[in-house]
Formats: sequence, structure tokens, C-alpha cells
Amino acid sequence: MQQAFRDTGLEGVVVAETRLSDVDGERGKLVIAGHDVEELAGRRRFESVCALLWGAEPALVREDIGKGRVQAFARLPALGDALTRKDGMDALRGALAHLDATGDGVADAAALTGAAAVFVAAWLRGRRGLSPVAPDASQGHAADYLRMATSGDAPREELAAGLDAYLVTVSDHGMNASTFAARVVTSTGSDMVSAAVAGVGALKGPLHGGAPGPVLDMLDAVGDAARARAWVDGELDAGRRIMGMGHRIYRVRDPRAAVFEKQIEKLAGGGGARLALARAVEREAEAALAARHPDRPLKANVEFFTAVLLESVGLPREAFAPTFAVGRIAGWCAHAMEQREKGRLIRPASRYVRPEPA
Ligand code: COA
Repeated sequence: MQQAFRDTGLEGVVVAETRLSDVDGERGKLVIAGHDVEELAGRRRFESVCALLWGAEPALVREDIGKGRVQAFARLPALGDALTRKDGMDALRGALAHLDATGDGVADAAALTGAAAVFVAAWLRGRRGLSPVAPDASQGHAADYLRMATSGDAPREELAAGLDAYLVTVSDHGMNASTFAARVVTSTGSDMVSAAVAGVGALKGPLHGGAPGPVLDMLDAVGDAARARAWVDGELDAGRRIMGMGHRIYRVRDPRAAVFEKQIEKLAGGGGARLALARAVEREAEAALAARHPDRPLKANVEFFTAVLLESVGLPREAFAPTFAVGRIAGWCAHAMEQREKGRLIRPASRYVRPEPA
């Protein structure tokens, strides 16, 4: 039976049962595959969290993701101009779309996860006029991604560890928009590559994954903590949103913000002036938003400190959204497998509001 329509953006509507992750927006808790995110980030490697999500053997997953990177690198010459796109999410979407739709198991998830890192890294180097760096399957995924994306030299261990913690933290997050997109595609019986391409398309939008680059732009524009409140008020007066603030589910601070702050503090220099400025802007933005929306708590979300963490590990701001995809693709694949296993065609209804034909 068709229900009355309220434009809620499906808020609070349960569309699947999942064993993958749980977001508690009131208490600010994120559980990934049975573990608090704080227990995973910085303690378990990204590949090991992929194994948890995919229900597979960690050593095998690590090997398969490494293999996936090597295979994807061999495909680079066949990608045409996909990786010459100005926007990294456009480049990643196009490059992934080149992959053959094969199976829908753990090996396919690993191949896609490996490929995403290679494609983003090659795109980043390409836009600087540099040739792609070949993967090293014996390295950890985060370290190898950072190496391929930057100079080609092995990154300092602490930088690779910071990036690894980032990838782990963003690997899955309940029924977010890109995950839902991936599940809808899978529910039709379509393949995992198509699900991942849909995920990239959804993640690209600034309301989902496209905010961390603009957060860094904001920090640059504010420049000095003393100017933060005036800058934020100016933006809000102009009707613009403050990037990195607010969340559909969290009514308290996004727990991932604290995870990232901790990782930033661990790096040499401890985040320095950048972290201090980010904290000041967060404080002022929170106060300004509270004054305007007393009934709606609007606090820092994952993207706010993503900007500072990814900058600190040495990635440029245009790589932020694609790097989010490099981590989240693990979750999209896990959800595709789960949807395939027990899901039904997702096919909601709409209400036609034009007059009926005469
Ligand atoms: N800056 C200014 N105002 C904000 C805001 C922000 N970052 N986030 C929400 N608001 C305002 C809305 O304009 C709305 O005001 P209104 O009732 O006067 O129209 C009110 O708060 C409620 O917001 P709503 O649009 O219902 O929230 P949502 O659940 O749809 O949106 C986000 C969640 C994340 C899309 C939203 O907070 C946002 O746009 N944030 C900035 C982008 C961002 O950081 N994206 C990354 C998300 S992880």
C-alpha cells in the first residue's frame, strides 16, 4: 500500500539489516564490523578491516588487494583519457567503469579496492605531468597508495600509519547515500563494478564526500583564529553552509573527528598551527550555528578534520574526496555482497502529482 509522502530524505527509514556498521547519532558512536571505530583506527591495518567487512581471511585479503593494484596498473594504458579529467571523482568514476564486470565475491572486492588506489594515484601524478608509479604488492595498501600518489619514494612510516587510520575510519558508515546507491544497484542483480561506480557518483556531492577540500579552502580564507567568527557569520548571512559542519544522523560531534584529531597529534609537529586554527574555526562555527539553529545541534562532521589529516600526511586538497572513495570502496563492496546475499530488489514508490490525463 502506498504511504503518504513527506520529504524527509528517507530519514529514519530502515532499508536493510546489516552486520557491517552501526551509527549511533545520539551518543556519537560508530561500530564497524563489531568493533568501535576507536579500537580499529591506528590499531588494525586497512586490509584487516576489509577482511572483517568482507568476512574473509586477512592474509588473503592483503594479498588480493596487492594483486588488484598490480592488475589495475597494467590496465592504465587502456583507460584512454579517463584519468585526464580535471576532477578526481570524475576520473575515478570513469576509470572504474573501464573494469570488466566479473564476479561479486571477495576477490572482486579486493580487485576493485586495489584499483581505486592505483587510479587515484595515477590521476594525481598525471595532473602534475608525472608518469604513474608502479605498485608494490608487498607493501601495505595505505603506504603503497601514498607512495604512488606522491613522489614514488616510500613514505615515512607515521604518514602511512595516519593514512591507514583514515582509510579504516571511513571504510563504512551505515546507510549513507553512496552505500545506499551501491545497494540499490546491486539489488537489481547488477555487478559490483557498477555498484562502485554508483558509489563514486553519490560520494562526489558536497553534501556527502565533497566537503573536505572546501574545508581547507575555508581554513585558508579565515587565516587567523581571531577572524573565525566574523568569517563564519559572513558565510551564514550570505546563505552559504559551513563545510564540515552538520550531519544527517549525528546530533553530537562526529566520533570520527576525534579519531582524526588523535592521528594528527601523533604526526611530527602534532598538526601545529593548522590544527589550532581548525579547532578555533570549529568552536566559532559551532557557536554561530547554535545561535541560528537552537533546536538543531550542528557540530563538526568527519570532513572537518579529514582536511587537516590528509593535508598532514602529504596529500593535496584535490585528492581528498577521491581518497575518501579509496577507503569507502571497501564498504560499498561489503554492502554489495551483503545485499546480494539476502536483499530484495529495492524499488520504492512515488506519488504522481500532475492532473490525470483527460
Ligand atoms: N552550515 C549552515 N547551516 C547548516 C549546515 C551547515 N553546515 N548544516 C545544516 N544547516 C542548516 C540547514 O540550512 C537547515 O536550516 P533551515 O532549517 O533553516 O533550512 C538546518 O540546519 C537543518 O539542516 P538539514 O538540511 O535538514 O540537514 P541535513 O540532515 O539534510 O544535512 C548535511 C546534513 C551534512 C547535508 C548538512 O549539515 C550540510 O550541508 N553540511 C555541510 C556539508 C558537509 O559538511 N558535508 C559532509 C557531510 S559528512
